[in-house]
Amino acid sequence: MIIPLAHRADQTQEYYFSVKLTEVRRLQAAGNDVINLGIGNPDLMPSANTIDALVQSAQQPTAHGYQPYKGTPGLRKAIVQFYAHTYGVPLDADTEILPLIGSKEGITHISMTFLNEGDRVLVPELGYPAYRAVSSMIGAKVDEYPLLEYGGWQPDWDVMADLVAQSSDSGQTKILWMNYPHMPTGAPATHALFERAVRFAHDHRVLLCHDNPYSLILNKKSPISLLSIDGAKDVAIELNSLSKSHNMAGWRIGWMAGTKAYVDAVLTMKSNVDSGQFKPLMDAAAEALTNSDDWHRERNAVYQGRLDAIHAFLDALGCTYTTDQEGLFIWAKLPESVESAEKLVDDLLQTKHIFIAPGFIFGPKGNRYIRVSLCMPKERIEEAVKRLTSWS
Ligand SMILES: Cc1ncc(COP(=O)(O)O)c(C=O)c1O
Repeated sequence: MIIPLAHRADQTQEYYFSVKLTEVRRLQAAGNDVINLGIGNPDLMPSANTIDALVQSAQQPTAHGYQPYKGTPGLRKAIVQFYAHTYGVPLDADTEILPLIGSKEGITHISMTFLNEGDRVLVPELGYPAYRAVSSMIGAKVDEYPLLEYGGWQPDWDVMADLVAQSSDSGQTKILWMNYPHMPTGAPATHALFERAVRFAHDHRVLLCHDNPYSLILNKKSPISLLSIDGAKDVAIELNSLSKSHNMAGWRIGWMAGTKAYVDAVLTMKSNVDSGQFKPLMDAAAEALTNSDDWHRERNAVYQGRLDAIHAFLDALGCTYTTDQEGLFIWAKLPESVESAEKLVDDLLQTKHIFIAPGFIFGPKGNRYIRVSLCMPKERIEEAVKRLTSWS
């Protein structure tokens, strides 16, 4: 006998990478040397200070018990100092920061806090899959907003205004998800874009949720926080994370920043779901947040040094791409000769043992695109290029 699942479980598909990486592990277990250019999982080390702080903290007898639901005051203070130094944004460590077990879980907590069943959510037609998946799980309706490829993958604000206007009969638009530097297209953040977004959120009374994990990766200009825009705090919250910028993806440390009312509301929900994080992780995260500007520059120099090899890889596939992308990936368009991204990705994995991400997992608009990650040593990317030269 099988007990039936909830409708939401029936309707939710397993996360693409959860499925695909099982396939990758199966190939590896069979002795194949798979080059994984699919996922944004930094291969570089956190700073040495971070590791030292972890070890030292773990040796304290007081480090092993439950911690405050709002994280340690030391971590919140370090996040506030990081925001002031990196983005010039002042925040209050007691009231405006909520540490998270990675920013991914924040998407669920925020959605649970603000959405009623039937409410509508604006998600980019290409974007991190969790915005869409979690909204649907909660019973909200997803409206995809267009991104204008020839306008640098910027949102189409007119269409978004129409979507909000149309939505009022069938459910209120409550949340707008946005993420710049944009994953997967690599489009940068600009003040003009963020000002437009905050104005839109005010005009249409929607909560603007900005997801900002890539601001320090291969950024061409000073990193920007959406919270630096006048009036942002009334209508916006920002997610941020140590996963990419501090090479700490497996540590699961992120946070939400925003005004007290929003932080308190999300904390109320979250405090019923988990019981905080391990203190040594939080102590080490606080240390990581003090990494110098030079440390970030050196990390970016490594990624920059891999770009030629990634471009050679994409050239060998006949793809086209822009060279001004920010973040951990390069987004590239497939040549006409390739039948479909799905087939290319499967063929590459099975015959060349190279894994890349097909664009459709970020939304249907990505059907003719692939996303390649910079999280592999240059020699491994060059090895992938070599394997492609025998491609037929
Ligand atoms: C745009 C975006 N948001 C959020 C996340 C999740 O980050 P975290 O590791 O902090 O949960 C990712 C990870 O790939 C991402 O690309």
